[in-house]
Amino acid sequence: MTRTVYVNGDYVPEAEAKISVFDRGFLMADGVYEVTSVLDGKLVDFDGHAKRLERSLTELDMASPVTIDELLEIHRELVRLNDLTEGGIYLQITRGAPVDRDFAFPDPAEVPSSLVLFTQSKNLANAPAATTGISVISIDDLRWARRDIKTVQLLYPSMGKMMAKKAGADDAWMVEDGVVTEGTSNNAYIVKGGKIITRQLSNDILHGITRAAVLRLAKEAQMEVEERGFTIAEAQEADEAFITSATTFVQPVVKIDGETVGEGKPGRIALRLREIYIDESRKKAI
Ligand code: PDD
Repeated sequence: MTRTVYVNGDYVPEAEAKISVFDRGFLMADGVYEVTSVLDGKLVDFDGHAKRLERSLTELDMASPVTIDELLEIHRELVRLNDLTEGGIYLQITRGAPVDRDFAFPDPAEVPSSLVLFTQSKNLANAPAATTGISVISIDDLRWARRDIKTVQLLYPSMGKMMAKKAGADDAWMVEDGVVTEGTSNNAYIVKGGKIITRQLSNDILHGITRAAVLRLAKEAQMEVEERGFTIAEAQEADEAFITSATTFVQPVVKIDGETVGEGKPGRIALRLREIYIDESRKKAI
């Protein structure tokens, strides 16, 4: 089945989907995005993703071509047209395609934002990495200083994934001033003495939608949570480590820079959180 994607108001076969070479997303990475996961053909935490999208747009003074209600309809229509049961929906809004390349923002009254969405089918709930755990390396965090905005400037995170691959690992955790910020495309956590530790929210990290849900669920399950930075050395000495994102949910980390974490297998707390997160997501998905 050929995939149907959404481009600026139209549902079209992916091979026919087109964006201008002058689009500022293409020329300047002047765009924002969201990835919403789909379980049982339903959207997980659509509200959270929609709110963060609005915030990213506001921070960049970028207009949305559609309302949140319309976005919800587009998400649902894509799920339906592509018969998607499990995976994700990628959404991107850019500052549109002016007539020429120019550093100054175009007038939104003259240049409408571009909107693209597509589906990605993926095994999320039974991903093999959840049972084996993943390995990460540490790298310097060389990204810009507004990581709270979910922009499409993903070159450095892509380089980080390649550095990990070259080192025989699965992903990278980024470190700034000696402290872990986050993973290349996920938030990072450790567990010590039953306490879940993850970096506090600021402009230094993306405010993960999965992070918010997992921390809330952890507190509801009477688990202790501390929001603060931690070093790679502390993480290597931790009982457990894990990451969260819309594409991985809660995924255990079993090796950091070649050092085994805990017993070298997915930790009890990470697996418990994964289970309650997936259960709740299935119940609340719309
Ligand atoms: N990435 N931190 C970064 C840098 C991310 O790119 C992501 C998500 C997260 C987790 O956010 P959330 O829980 O809302 O997915 C944290 C998406 C999945 C991606 O780029 O594909």
